[in-house]
Amino acid sequence: MADPLDKLLTELEQFGKANDGTTTGRPHRMLNITRDTGEFLAVLVRAAVARRVLEIGTSNGYSTLWLASAARAIGGAVTTVEVSDYKIGLAKATFARSGLAACITLVQDDAGRLLQRSADGAFDLVFLDSERSAYPEWWPDLKRVLRPGGLLVVDNATSHPAEMAPFVALVSTDAAFVTSLVPVGNGEFLAVKADQGWSDRT
Ligand SMILES: C[S@@+](CC[C@H](N)C(=O)[O-])C[C@H]1O[C@@H](n2cnc3c(N)ncnc32)[C@H](O)[C@@H]1O
Repeated sequence: MADPLDKLLTELEQFGKANDGTTTGRPHRMLNITRDTGEFLAVLVRAAVARRVLEIGTSNGYSTLWLASAARAIGGAVTTVEVSDYKIGLAKATFARSGLAACITLVQDDAGRLLQRSADGAFDLVFLDSERSAYPEWWPDLKRVLRPGGLLVVDNATSHPAEMAPFVALVSTDAAFVTSLVPVGNGEFLAVKADQGWSDRT
């Protein structure tokens, strides 16, 4: 990774730790993924050749930088959606400094609405890191917007297992998906959507 970008990532990590250590109100906490999760996402984007990435839950843009850096390396781009005015302002400032703005589309909206208006198969990889209670309601659209063979990655699978349980149960029992729980960072729940070309098609 280029040095200026790594410096920005380190600065954001320090800011996130300091801010979240002293801020109790969830709307003003950054709640960033861990660095090892960022590295893992960067590997997944490259390995899956995921050129069309959707991130749900931007915060101040820390995880977006990992996704966008990897997407740019393979000729791709990231759409990231965030509902909060405050976080949108922070993310804009992050992206302007990152050298990655050209491959990031920042959308201010409710993620459920963005999903509803997204086309079938619009994304190769979706990274879900938002309001966990909404995930089951979003599931039909999450399924639809992933292309066959596309990958869903969900943060906080081990840090918040009870909150994640209803969603994990939905996805794990869906015959069109193969899942895995990966103990990186706060726990990444992975689900890959079946492709008709695969021999075990459902
Ligand atoms: C855990 S934080 C995201 C952290 C970010 N992915 C990172 O690692 O840098 C979750 C974010 O989701 C946003 N959010 C919550 N509900 C949302 C919704 N319905 N639509 C879009 N964003 C939402 C919150 O404002 C918050 O910034």
